[in-house]
Amino acid sequence: MVSATIDTSALRHNLSIVRQRAPRSRVMAVIKANAYGHGLVAVAQALDSADLFAVARVDEGLALRDAGIANDILLLEGVFDAEQLSAAAAAGFELVVHTGEQIELLRAMPAPARFKIWLKLDSGMNRLGFKAGEFSAAHAALHGLTCVQQPINLFTHLASADSPDLPTTAEQLAKFSAVTDGLPGERSIANSAGMVGFPEAQVDWVRPGLLLYGVSPFAGLIGADHGLRPVMTLRSHVIAVKDLVVGEQVGYGGTWTAGRPTRLAIAAVGYGDGYPRNLASGAPVLVNGERAPLAGRVSMDMIGIDATDLQSVLKPGDPVILWGEGLPVEEIAEWAETIPYELLCGISQRVAVDIV
Ligand SMILES: Cc1ncc(COP(=O)(O)O)c(C=O)c1O
Repeated sequence: MVSATIDTSALRHNLSIVRQRAPRSRVMAVIKANAYGHGLVAVAQALDSADLFAVARVDEGLALRDAGIANDILLLEGVFDAEQLSAAAAAGFELVVHTGEQIELLRAMPAPARFKIWLKLDSGMNRLGFKAGEFSAAHAALHGLTCVQQPINLFTHLASADSPDLPTTAEQLAKFSAVTDGLPGERSIANSAGMVGFPEAQVDWVRPGLLLYGVSPFAGLIGADHGLRPVMTLRSHVIAVKDLVVGEQVGYGGTWTAGRPTRLAIAAVGYGDGYPRNLASGAPVLVNGERAPLAGRVSMDMIGIDATDLQSVLKPGDPVILWGEGLPVEEIAEWAETIPYELLCGISQRVAVDIV
């Protein structure tokens, strides 16, 4: 009943916008977490012309290989044991290296494996990467290993590129330069917000995720403001229509009360599908292409919608859009007090994915 339509032409369009925005960089398409909920393999097939696919974990890369995807693949978290390292060698993955343990795993790797390595600097996010003072020792340690392809490539991640007014990004870029200037190898710094907000962070490679899915990384903007098209549209249908008199309440806890004679639509979608339960009454839904406000709490399988002001005649079976075409996911995320990433990644297994 609930479906997520994935618009592959929008994906390709968004990749072309990324290329226009970063004309001197190659593009690592970030498709981890089931391509942000859009479907790992379908997205990889649609974005076949990307220069590389970036995933977080070895299993995600192996799923791509199992599906016959032959493109270059980078593991953003690298590997954590010898078994994963062997699997990565067999599958030809590139690796981010961010700990001494990972260097030791590579040291123990038997010939003839050879990896393209991205050595990660922690330039201030304090998540993954070697600190500035540890970086050159890590670089030297990797330099001596036969299984490491030379030159070693250089990588960091920006913590706050979506807040261009903060000094953080300039500080991170300065630290990256200070530590890596003069070293050979390709460089990669910018996620979506970084490549749009800080063109100077567009080095050899950019690493967009969100932009490819048609979503703006900046609060207050939507994908269309960057020339992007939404890729995922979450759809359902009206399954019941009823008329309420003044004073009647809707849903669990009766949190919404009819203040006027009300035409109420019940649609088949709820938190069991990944539609966020914390959406408040008033959050917009599209019914028959018209905006109408949510009325009452989101249940597991259903929502109520105040359809009184709709121009169209309402009946069961009418189409409902929760986000996507005509209703930006950025707007729903704001209502849900979260970020678009979480909504997109969070659609549940029950949702049928429809690749168009
Ligand atoms: C290391 C790394 N690079 C790039 C990205 C892509 O980020 P975005 O979707 O904001 O473009 C991510 C995603 O979280 C990431 O972890």
